[in-house]
Amino acid sequence: MCGIVAYVGSKPCREFVLDGLLRLEYRGYDSAGFVCVDSQTNRLSFFKEVGGVSVLKKAATLKANGFVGMGHTRWATHGVVDQKNAHPHFNCKKTIAVVHNGIIESYMDIKAQLIKEGHNFCSTTDSEVVAHLFSSLLQSCNDLNKAAQMLAKTLKGAFALVFTFEDYPDILLAIRSRSPLVIGLGIDENFVASDPLAFSDKTSRILFLPDECFAIVKKDSVEVFDFDNKRLEVLPREIDSKYMSVDKQDFEHYMLKEIYEQKRAVTRTLSFYKAIGFPEDSASESVLGHRNIVNSDSLWRQIGLSSEQVKDLRYLNIVAAGTSWHAARIGQFFFEIIAKIPTKVYLSSEFRYMPFFVEKNSAFLFISQSGETADTLEALRLVNSFEVPTITLTNVSSSTMVRESTGFLPMQAGPEISVASTKSFSTQIASLYWLAHRAALERGLLSWQDVTKAEEELFVAAEILESTLDNYRFKITSQLAPFYAQFDKFIFLGRHVSYPFALEAALKLKEVSYIFAQCYPAGELKHGPIALVDKKTPVVIFSSLDDIIYHKLVSNAQEVKAREGHLIVFAFEGQTELLQLADCSFVIPRVKPLLAPLAMTGVMQFLVYQISHELRLPIDKPRNLAKSVTVE
Ligand code: G6P
Repeated sequence: MCGIVAYVGSKPCREFVLDGLLRLEYRGYDSAGFVCVDSQTNRLSFFKEVGGVSVLKKAATLKANGFVGMGHTRWATHGVVDQKNAHPHFNCKKTIAVVHNGIIESYMDIKAQLIKEGHNFCSTTDSEVVAHLFSSLLQSCNDLNKAAQMLAKTLKGAFALVFTFEDYPDILLAIRSRSPLVIGLGIDENFVASDPLAFSDKTSRILFLPDECFAIVKKDSVEVFDFDNKRLEVLPREIDSKYMSVDKQDFEHYMLKEIYEQKRAVTRTLSFYKAIGFPEDSASESVLGHRNIVNSDSLWRQIGLSSEQVKDLRYLNIVAAGTSWHAARIGQFFFEIIAKIPTKVYLSSEFRYMPFFVEKNSAFLFISQSGETADTLEALRLVNSFEVPTITLTNVSSSTMVRESTGFLPMQAGPEISVASTKSFSTQIASLYWLAHRAALERGLLSWQDVTKAEEELFVAAEILESTLDNYRFKITSQLAPFYAQFDKFIFLGRHVSYPFALEAALKLKEVSYIFAQCYPAGELKHGPIALVDKKTPVVIFSSLDDIIYHKLVSNAQEVKAREGHLIVFAFEGQTELLQLADCSFVIPRVKPLLAPLAMTGVMQFLVYQISHELRLPIDKPRNLAKSVTVE
C-alpha cells in the first residue's frame, strides 16, 4: 500500500514527482506529500495535504523545488487520515525526511525507547519512528551505510523506505524489505518508485532493488548493498513500456475505459499465448519485460514446470485475493473439467494460517493482477520454502511475485488504473481457460484442434462481452441505473461456474456504489437467506448454460417470485422460463457453457458502473480502498 516516487538529477524534481504520484494513486489516495532539498535554501522543504494528489497539486502554495526530492501517496494503516500522518515524516531537526510503504511491526517499542531518549513525535504513524531512529543511528556512527544497515536490522515488518537529507543533499537512500522498490536509470538523473509505472515515460532501464537490500542513489550512480553492508552487483533490465499508457482518452472514467478494453485485452493475451504456445515457434522478442521467452518450446519451463510435470500433475492449488480469487474459483472448473486436475482454491489472507500439505506431483498457482498483493506474496514465499513449483499469473511482468516464483504466465491486459478490477478479471478468465486447455493437450486429453477451438471460443465470448454491453448501454443509462441506484441492498445468486461470477458482481457493486450486496450459491437460498427476500431487496440471478443447472436456477427464481421478490436475471438466448419470471432481464448470446461468466462480464460491470455514476460517487477511487494492497 502507498506509493513512493523519488528523483535525483539535474532537473527540478517537483513536477516529475507529483506526476509520478498521480500514476501511483492506485496504491492509495487518502493523503499525499512532497519534500525536496530546496535549491533556494538548501534545507528540506515540504508540503502535505489530506486527499488525492490533485489536492496536493492545487494546494502546493509553497513553491519549493530542488534537484533531489520525493513524494508519497498514502493508504492509511496506522493513524487516522490527517495532515500530520501524511508522509514525508521527519526527525526532530527536520534534516532527514522519509517516505514509507509497508508496516513497521516493531514501531511501538522503538517509539517508546526514542521518546525516553528525548525525541518528539508529530504523528501517530508507524513510519515516523523510522526518521527518528535513523537520525539517532546516524548521529552515533556518522556513516550513512552503517546507519542504513543498523536501521534495516532493527526494524521488523515490511518496508520500502526512501530518505532525503539536508546533510547529504545529492543522495537518495532507498531501503527495502518485502515491500517493492525499483530504481529507474536515466541520463544525469535517476528515479526511485514503488512501481516502474511512475517513470515509464522517462526510462525503460530498471534496476530491481533486491529484497533485504539498500541503495545509495545519486544522479550518476547507484550502489546497492545487502543488509550486511556488502556491495552487490545488480544488473539493470529493460522493461517493455509499450503497455504502460495511463491516458484516460475520451472516457469519463478509467473504469469505463477499462470495461471497453476487455475485448482487446483478451485478444491480445491470446495472440501472445498463441505466439509462445506452439512447440516449433521461436519468438525471441522480449515482450515480457525482464524475462525473455527464447522459444515457445519452453512454454512449460517459462511457467515453471516441465512437460513431464504437467503430464503427471495430480493436484493444482490456486492462491489469490479479491477479484483474482473469484477468477481462480472460475478457473477451478476449467482445470478440473477440461484438464482433469483436482484443484483447490485458497484465499491468500487465510492460506498462511491453515494446515499446509505439499502433495507429491502438485503445483501452486498464484493469481494477482498486480503481482504485489502482500497476502498473496507472503503465501508464495511460504510455499517457496517447500520443494514444489510455484507459478504466478499476473498482469505485471516486473512484479515481485514474478521474480520470486519458479515461473510465470503474463496477462497482456495493460495497466489497470481504476481500483475496481475489470479487464484483469476477464483476462484472468481467458488465461486460465487457455492454460487448462494447454495442460489438457499435454496430458493427452485434447488435440491441437481442440486448443485452437478453445481460442476461438474465447474470441467469441470476448466479442459478446462487448456487444451485449453495447446493446444494453442506453437502457442501463436511461432507465435501469437510475432505478436500481435507489435500493440499498441486493442479493446475488449463481450456481456452478456462475456462482463465483456472482461473487465478483456483488464485490463490484459494493466497491464502487457502496450498496450492500450479499452473494449465495442459488441452492443455498432456501437454507436461510430466503428470509431476506422482499420487494425492497432485488435478487440478481446469473444463469448457466448447463441444462441441468439452468433448470435448478429456474426453480430458485420461482422461489424468489413466490415471495414477491424483485428479480433481475442475466440469462442466455432461448432461456424463456427464466426470462419470463424476471422483472428485469439481460439476454446474452450463447457461448461455450464454461465461458458464460466471460460473456456476462461487460454488461454486469457496466450496470454497476452506471449505478455508481448515478450516485455521483468517485468511481475510479472508491472510499477506503486501494488497488495494490501491499500490507497484510
Ligand atoms: C485489492 C483490490 C481488489 C483486488 C485485490 C487483489 O483489494 O482493491 O480489486 O482484486 O486487491 O489484487 P491483485 O493485484 O492481487 O489481483
